[in-house]
Amino acid sequence: MAGFPQQRPRRLRVNAATRRMVAETRVHPASLILPLFVREGLDAPREVTSMPGVLQHTRDSLRKAVVSAAQSGIGGVMLFGIPAERDAVGSAGIDPDGILNQAIGDVISEIGDSLVVMSDLCLDEFTDHGHCGVLDSEGKVDNDSTLEQYARMAVVQAEAGAHMLGTSGMMDGQVGRVREALDAAGHTDTSILAYAVKYASACFGPFREAVESTLEGDRRTYQQDPANLRDALREVTLDVDEGADIVMVKPALPYLDVLAAVADTVNVPVAAYQVSGEYAMVEAAARNGWIDREQMILETLTSIRRAGAEMICTYWAEDAARLLRERY
Ligand code: PBG
Repeated sequence: MAGFPQQRPRRLRVNAATRRMVAETRVHPASLILPLFVREGLDAPREVTSMPGVLQHTRDSLRKAVVSAAQSGIGGVMLFGIPAERDAVGSAGIDPDGILNQAIGDVISEIGDSLVVMSDLCLDEFTDHGHCGVLDSEGKVDNDSTLEQYARMAVVQAEAGAHMLGTSGMMDGQVGRVREALDAAGHTDTSILAYAVKYASACFGPFREAVESTLEGDRRTYQQDPANLRDALREVTLDVDEGADIVMVKPALPYLDVLAAVADTVNVPVAAYQVSGEYAMVEAAARNGWIDREQMILETLTSIRRAGAEMICTYWAEDAARLLRERY
């Protein structure tokens, strides 16, 4: 039949130059955030077994890592601290001389404002029971006394120089309480990246190794049920009302529908966290020769961006920045 088919979408896929020009979605290195772990008392950096290529840093190697991150052109770093000693209320997270607070100071003195320096505002790395809050007499996570710990921790992190605090504990009212404490201490310019949507996910497994988590049981009384979308939208509305500057959805790939719905409803920037398990799955498959690692990195990041995230926390941030420069 002459002239059939009349529509030939393949024309726009004919070569790399055309495909590149018509791409609707682009990932830019500046939208990538690299999570970094710093471990108190380490003599040398130590690789996380379940996350090949990801290290627990010493204070010294962390300084070098952030310099390299800044040179790579990524947008920011997210710092996590692993203390040598833990207690029931997470004191080492609030101590200005605690590992995370010292590391924030180190990073700021090394790179200043050339990257957005974010810190994890959560107790789980600092409590001996591994929960993201303090426990009541029955062993349940006590929301309101946890908020007071977060308020103190936020002010200490801001004083150490963090630009942005990642409220990741999933307590009710945490954004509002942290905002109030920061403002009262004069830190009105310190912003809040709210982990507004955080599902109780199996994808956090390798992270628990990275921070040497002592958690027994799970976080289902505070993190969200994977079955629910409406709950995510409610959390986002609450966090924005309480003063969140950015809202984040986490994990990313299994929750792209949630990410798209959030991006549709809010009037603040949206971030997504491509978490440790997402990283580990791809690295493990690639190591077996079952998947093309680099193509998978770019494909997942593009999908997360397409679903509506402006920013992506990813352990591949530096690698991806290099790949994006080479390929596009
Ligand atoms: C809590 C926190 C976690 C992650 C980021 N912040 C762990 C958890 O909720 O169990 C997970 C990140 C990842 O899996 O990469 N401090």
